[in-house]
Amino acid sequence: MTLASIYPYRWKLLRFTAMIAVLIIARWTQAGAQTGTPGAAGAKLFAQQCGTCHSVKPGEVRAGPSLAGIVNKTAGKQAGFTYSDALKRSPMKWNAVNLDRWLTDSNVTVKGSYMNYRQADAAKRKAIIAYLASTPAQ
Ligand code: HEC
Repeated sequence: MTLASIYPYRWKLLRFTAMIAVLIIARWTQAGAQTGTPGAAGAKLFAQQCGTCHSVKPGEVRAGPSLAGIVNKTAGKQAGFTYSDALKRSPMKWNAVNLDRWLTDSNVTVKGSYMNYRQADAAKRKAIIAYLASTPAQ
């Protein structure tokens, strides 16, 4: 075997090794995302989709009220925030079912609400609600 004939093989081997490495890393990161800390997906979604308008720090008002410990609270009752009449008058409790409806289409769930949000992906809604349930009470 001459030197020249060995080189093409080395390149093939190198490319093959690189490909396997990429596949392993891809599997690895995927597995990490799936088995990561419970609630991590919800926390990230919350930060991306709700965090501009909502904080989970008690009493911290942004464009919307603080959502600290909001699960199972009555709608429209957080201190320091001026709600729409619609939400202020709503007797609804923020249990998992109502939160799921709210995040599916907030303006259909409470007509006249100031929040206009729609999330069609049930898994994402579930992750966000699980995250809300993990936040400390006000
Ligand atoms: C563009 C701003 C904005 C975004 C984004 C937003 N909200 Fe809101 N949210 C509001 C406002 C404003 C209100 C008050 C609505 C009213 O008074 O009618 C509100 C109210 C709420 C309430 C009711 C609180 C209470 O005390 O009754 C919940 C629960 C809620 N939002 C959850 C969420 C979640 C979860 C997300 C992300 C998936 C989200 N919101 C995204 C602005 C927003």
